[in-house]
Amino acid sequence: MKEREQWGSRIGLILAMAGNAIGLGNFLRFPVQAAQNGGGAFMIPYFISLLILGIPLMWVEWGIGRYGGKLGHGTAPGMFDAMWKNRAAKYIGILGVFLPLVVTIYYTYVCSWTLAFSVFSILGSYPKPQLAGSITASEYLKPYQNYLYDFIGASTGGTFLSPEPIAYIFFVITLVLAFWILGKGVSAGIEVLNKIAIPALFIMGLILFLKVLTLTSPTNPDYTVTKGLSFLWEPDFSGLLSGKVWLAAAGQIFFTLSLGLGAILTYASYVKPDEDIALDGLSTASLNEFAEVVFGSTIAITSAVVFFGPTGAGEIAKGGAFTLGFISMPAIFTHISGGQFFGFLWFLLLFFAGITSVVALAQPVIAFFEDEFGLERKKSVAIIGTVCFLSAHLPIFLNGSLDEMDFWAGTFGLVILALFEMIIFFWIFGAEKAWEEINRGAKIRVPRIFFYIMKYVTPAFITIILVAWAYEQLPEIISKGDGGVWATRVFLFLLLALNIALVELVWKRRRQ
Ligand code: PHE
Repeated sequence: MKEREQWGSRIGLILAMAGNAIGLGNFLRFPVQAAQNGGGAFMIPYFISLLILGIPLMWVEWGIGRYGGKLGHGTAPGMFDAMWKNRAAKYIGILGVFLPLVVTIYYTYVCSWTLAFSVFSILGSYPKPQLAGSITASEYLKPYQNYLYDFIGASTGGTFLSPEPIAYIFFVITLVLAFWILGKGVSAGIEVLNKIAIPALFIMGLILFLKVLTLTSPTNPDYTVTKGLSFLWEPDFSGLLSGKVWLAAAGQIFFTLSLGLGAILTYASYVKPDEDIALDGLSTASLNEFAEVVFGSTIAITSAVVFFGPTGAGEIAKGGAFTLGFISMPAIFTHISGGQFFGFLWFLLLFFAGITSVVALAQPVIAFFEDEFGLERKKSVAIIGTVCFLSAHLPIFLNGSLDEMDFWAGTFGLVILALFEMIIFFWIFGAEKAWEEINRGAKIRVPRIFFYIMKYVTPAFITIILVAWAYEQLPEIISKGDGGVWATRVFLFLLLALNIALVELVWKRRRQ
């Protein structure tokens, strides 16, 4: 068996894992989820989900990942197969290759918008309509909305999108950059990127955070920073009784911590055998939560409340993640002093958050080809880069395709994979063995209560989420869908079939 790559240093590993988790989800998805679900009402289920879902799953993925890596497997098919002597294990593991691949396909494109918008900000190419006191939030935002929609070619509606050529160019730049870094390898590529990008991201986050705290409203003196902060931090226990709020909170925990997709598994497969994964896993989750609840919430939500009031901010959040990040933020930046610079910082921060997640999402399938087919890294990177480039034409040119991929992989699929991880590790591989795996090398052992949480509470909680989701959302999702959406579903189905065929091939060879 050939020597597997390893992270170069502990700090590099932690920054890489933080870069994996900290992404567009922290700065765009989180504020929108929070605002759509009542602000203060969202936060209580959110923190409970972090405790009984996020942190336990983080440890489980580090544990499975390190175990698999020792045996030469960087992805779930090989890992599950090693932990569960059943023919089905490797097929279930396919999710850990297929899901991150699907997310890479659309996430890279969105990430490229942030790079483009940071350039547009510094060049000052935004519209600058005059602020008149009486106009509504939506009137105010209109020119910025047009700006975004023209860029991605969504102004006209219909099945096909017609993005501006510059959007396509930025996409190619982003993709080439990500795969160039991946081609350099785990330690010399991914680790180096994160050692630069994550500290830079925290500095930019801090600057923007302080800037937002000193904003004053140009429209209404009642819209203060304090009002913006209390939008999220005034606890509202009514959220505890709402199924919808729980689903949103748990879903956000999954997405933001990169859980259930296989991305943490793969990164963890490159750690040293005696690494303190209990502490490292917790550090990763903490860094991510800091970026999310301190920077992610304050920057986008507080500034929206200061400019548009609590009601206006709520309306903006209804428009979704792109409205908040790409429409509301530029509208604000063009009306504050130094806005060109702060706008640039905002989008550059998003780009750093995004690109460090893109490489994390692409690495599992690259590792699959390297570990299971014995392919050289460069070859593996070239193949996957090409696949991602070609596939991305769907979300780029087909209306509704991006959302469809995000639903199946980024919202639904990850819950299923997470459930299998918990069951295979704690119930089939064995709870005591799993517990030892997690604690091996740990200076301070994980409190025993988490043993019971991981064995009973987390899987039960995931099952409830799954059933509730299937019941509430699936019928509605499946019943609607035009040509573009159906084309995307066919594509996803074919991609999954291809993944199954590859796994079949690997194990067939192995039997011979
Ligand atoms: N956690 C990332 C975010 O918050 C997204 C992501 C999910 C990245 C899964 C890698 C794997 O944006």
